[in-house]
Amino acid sequence: MTYDATRFTFDYQPLADVAEGQRFSTYWDVEPLSRGPQPPPSWLVTDRAAVDTELGILKTGKEADVFLLERAVPGSDESCILAAKRYRSPEHRNFHRSAVYTEGRRGRNSRDTRAVNKGTTFGRQVAAGQWAWAEWESLNRLYGAGVPVPYPVQVDGTEILMELVTDDQAPAPRLAAQRPSPDLLRSYFTQIRDAMSTLALLGVAHGDLSPYNILAAGDRLVIIDLPQVVDIVANPAGPEFLMRDCRNICTWFRARGLEVDEQDLFSELIAGAFG
Ligand SMILES: Nc1ncnc2c1ncn2[C@@H]1O[C@H](COP(=O)(O)OP(=O)(O)O)[C@@H](O)[C@H]1O
Ligand SMILES: [Mg+2]
Repeated sequence: MTYDATRFTFDYQPLADVAEGQRFSTYWDVEPLSRGPQPPPSWLVTDRAAVDTELGILKTGKEADVFLLERAVPGSDESCILAAKRYRSPEHRNFHRSAVYTEGRRGRNSRDTRAVNKGTTFGRQVAAGQWAWAEWESLNRLYGAGVPVPYPVQVDGTEILMELVTDDQAPAPRLAAQRPSPDLLRSYFTQIRDAMSTLALLGVAHGDLSPYNILAAGDRLVIIDLPQVVDIVANPAGPEFLMRDCRNICTWFRARGLEVDEQDLFSELIAGAFG
């Protein structure tokens, strides 16, 4: 048998093509379970030739930072802007500083993902990755159940890419900063109660629900920040978390002028969870 080099083609991408703050889209590098519900929504760019460009930081937090990322196909008008939530870990501290991106990052991160999936010792050491994975699973489960959460695009180690929730083309503000009209206030409460009911029927509570973890996309609310979703049936502390969620929500709505009661809400949700 003779060796014919022309029969081999390599699907390589020359690294020199991406600038600092850019990388090739990682969508197809991650394993299927690390990609969101299929088929993806039509706005999502899934082209293999897509390039991710860092647009900057949206919010810094205690455990994670949220960045804006553009995923676009060079030379076309196909593009979308995503929210990249990155849990802090030594590996990600210099994430957007060039070389880390291009040098073997894909391999390392999909190894992280596999390890976390399998719950190996190595995986257990990757604490930030575990938070990311926990939030990833919650987003997928709740999105599938019709709860208003951002569409989960993909997870790669400590980074979750998700739909950027917007209002008027800009990142949506948090509910905490809003002063809705009485009608909108009532509608907002109904939306949150419905979302909490769906969670309760699934046997879980958000665990850190507050007007800071709810975004106002015009007249629609979207719930975010879900790494700590708690089981309210199996976890003895679950009902306490649920009560705290109810109190945070009702306190804010009351302060805005809507007469709602956390005990009533809690009883209704608990009945759903144990019913
Ligand atoms: N999908 C998203 N779309 C728009 N803004 C987002 C999104 N995810 C997070 N943010 C913004 O980033 C902030 C921090 O995100 P969050 O998930 O609450 O993380 P943290 O654990 O730091 O509180 C949010 O308050 C919100 O302003
Ligand atoms: Mg938050």
